[in-house]
Amino acid sequence: MTIFKSNPFHPTQHSTLYQALYSHMRTAILSGELKGGMKLPSTRALADELKISRNTVLNAYRQLLAEGYLEGKGGSGTFIARVLPETLLSASRQNKPKAPQFPQAESSQPVFSDNAKMQIAVSQSPASGKLPRPFLAEAPALDAFPYKLWSRLVVRQARRMPITNFTYQDSAGYRPLREAIAAHVAVSRQVHCIPEQVMIVSGSQGALDLAARMLVNAGDSVWMEDPGYPGARGAFIGSGAHIIPVPVDHEGLVVDIGISRAPQVRLVYITPSHQFPLGVTMSLSRRLALLDWAKHANAYILEDDYDSEFRYAGHPLATLQGLDNADRVIYIGTFSKVLFPSIRIGYMILPPALVDSFLKVRRLIDIHSPMLEQAVLADFITDGHYIRHLRRMRTLYAERRTVLLEAAKDLPLEIYSPEAGIHCVGWLADGVDDLALANQAADYDLDITLISNFNIGPLTRRGLLLGYGGYSVQEIKDGVQRLANLLRST
Ligand SMILES: Cc1ncc(COP(=O)(O)O)c(C=O)c1O
Repeated sequence: MTIFKSNPFHPTQHSTLYQALYSHMRTAILSGELKGGMKLPSTRALADELKISRNTVLNAYRQLLAEGYLEGKGGSGTFIARVLPETLLSASRQNKPKAPQFPQAESSQPVFSDNAKMQIAVSQSPASGKLPRPFLAEAPALDAFPYKLWSRLVVRQARRMPITNFTYQDSAGYRPLREAIAAHVAVSRQVHCIPEQVMIVSGSQGALDLAARMLVNAGDSVWMEDPGYPGARGAFIGSGAHIIPVPVDHEGLVVDIGISRAPQVRLVYITPSHQFPLGVTMSLSRRLALLDWAKHANAYILEDDYDSEFRYAGHPLATLQGLDNADRVIYIGTFSKVLFPSIRIGYMILPPALVDSFLKVRRLIDIHSPMLEQAVLADFITDGHYIRHLRRMRTLYAERRTVLLEAAKDLPLEIYSPEAGIHCVGWLADGVDDLALANQAADYDLDITLISNFNIGPLTRRGLLLGYGGYSVQEIKDGVQRLANLLRST
């Protein structure tokens, strides 16, 4: 029997195995998946089930016991505590006398909300500020960004900004930028909208956070592609969502399986143009099936179109937003991939009925995005630089992709490389220890991201991401050599 039914345990490379198991169990206890009073399997049985060492399980149990999440009952086993430490802490706070109390710095531990604890448990890789190493997938070509032109536009805007731009602004964003985005996505992505539906946010992450706050109640079910984007998962967990993993095959999200697992959900998160991380494009029939189901189930679809501008062959399929005739789709775009991630500008295109309420709540988060960056970006698009940069990047990425595929053809990997996006997938042969690969990658001056990092349900196949967008031809060739050595060493 397994104790982690709806959310199986998968270690990540970002923590030790014992820390990963500890936080997974704590999250399961706080979310109620492991209920108070439940008897846990013995350390030996859990170690056998998870195929990890007994010491790892012992250490995780010890820490949870020490923190009060578990109770040991003599020889009769280990149980989930009926009263969790969070409950005790809040009760003792309520019973305190009214007299002023001064915090005792050395003994007090910070106490976070249950939802924050669950987000802390799933949040990955803090921002580094370092230049990425091959083959990190999220990196765009920072070596090819037109910095001089950008700084000219910054200076021009800073000089001519009217004083009224220095007051609080519309939470929906800078109007000329919203107009420029609406015009661009209509042509390039067949998205149907007017500028009033466009809301500028702090990257896709800002959009995911807002959508989760607006649409998900604690305990509501949310479908997510499995494997899927942890940024989205973390945002939904922050609202107390019950994540329903839905598998992805060669046609994208398997809608029928989603319906059979949870026919009534509030929200579906999906990356149909270039599934993250597998890279598959969702077929038209699946898109239509998803839209049809969402219409009848009254569910919203969050369409994350994060790197769809990069397609090297064929015509892109219409976006879900463009096919939607029932106002079920919230479209999310970002400038992190076409320009650079630290710009922190993305956008949501909302069905008209959602706009006013989303704006009211957004005002209570960060009010609006910074004006100078929005104004510079608006100039960059309307002066035609955006389209020119995009065209140059498409050619550059197509070249880098070809170099990677040629250099990597003798690696012991089965490479899946759709003609889209800025990364592909290298599937490992059965039996290769992917965690060991990731742990040793730094010794070979590589950044390896594992597919298993993104799994929610059981892992079906081990593999790694091969990002090529952010690296020069020489860096790709040298990186592949080092990757060959790494693969040989494990
Ligand atoms: C699926 C997906 N969505 C969105 C993003 C970009 O997020 P943001 O716009 O918050 O930088 C990424 C970045 O790697 C991603 O993989």
